[in-house]
Amino acid sequence: MNTFLFGIYPYIALSVLFLGSIARYDRDPFTWKTSSSQLLRQRHFAIASILFHVGVLVIFVGHVVGLLTPIWVFDMLHVSHGAKQILAIVAGGIAGVMATIGGGMLLYRRWTDQRIRLTSSFADIAILVLLLAQLLLGLGTVPVSWQHSDGHEMVKFMTWAQMIWTFQPGAADYVAGAALVFKLHIALGLTIFLLVPFTRLVHIASGIFAPLRYLLLRPGYQIVRSRRSSKLPERSAADINKRRIAAAKRPSAAE
Ligand code: HEM
Repeated sequence: MNTFLFGIYPYIALSVLFLGSIARYDRDPFTWKTSSSQLLRQRHFAIASILFHVGVLVIFVGHVVGLLTPIWVFDMLHVSHGAKQILAIVAGGIAGVMATIGGGMLLYRRWTDQRIRLTSSFADIAILVLLLAQLLLGLGTVPVSWQHSDGHEMVKFMTWAQMIWTFQPGAADYVAGAALVFKLHIALGLTIFLLVPFTRLVHIASGIFAPLRYLLLRPGYQIVRSRRSSKLPERSAADINKRRIAAAKRPSAAE
């Protein structure tokens, strides 16, 4: 079981994440969106969304840098394993609490507002519940990590993640002796990866790739926003009709 969950399942989850996302973008590009509910209800949205997103982004960067940076880099920079562990606990803990409060508010809003609930899919609600469960499990690791403040337990997770990433066999052995809360946290984290292509979480990739696409592939494109501060004058129905008829008579409309 340990070998499957922490040695094989990571590859299944990451393959579904990458290939599933490519397939969805290819088949159904118009479903690739955040499905934001901001238009339906503005109240409490900004504060909840900011708390959630800032918290999750700090955690995301912390996990990527913390787990995937080779251990020799920290040693070279004279960052002790204990100092790194305390940083992970403090920064990750604060970000985790922020994301949990924001995520809780977003779920409450989605569940209790009739209009948002009716326009939410099962996946919209389920993924928010799973993210909250993942955040609570993550925060549940903090007291255990605190007991290993010399960082030796964290080094095992770093070794596991780096061996998975570099396709080395035997990675699961490094997680075998870890506390249950860590195992649950990692298994659910992998499951969230696996579910990304089937949920609105695909929008995360747009945050990364869309700016690159405009910078590198379509540099001629730009977003233009009007600086108009007052409303346009009202048009009468007759005026709108006149413009429609004129547009229909233009040669390009007949092509
Ligand atoms: C497969 C994906 C993931 C893996 C392998 C993973 C692994 C870990 C590990 C090893 C720790 C303990 C760090 C330490 O103190 O030594 C941790 C902590 C934590 N994780 Fe994750 N995690 C994953 C996904 C996530 C996700 C998706 C979230 C949030 C939505 C999250 C939120 C947290 C939080 C809040 C903590 C506690 C604070 C901290 O130590 O940074 N994790 N995670």
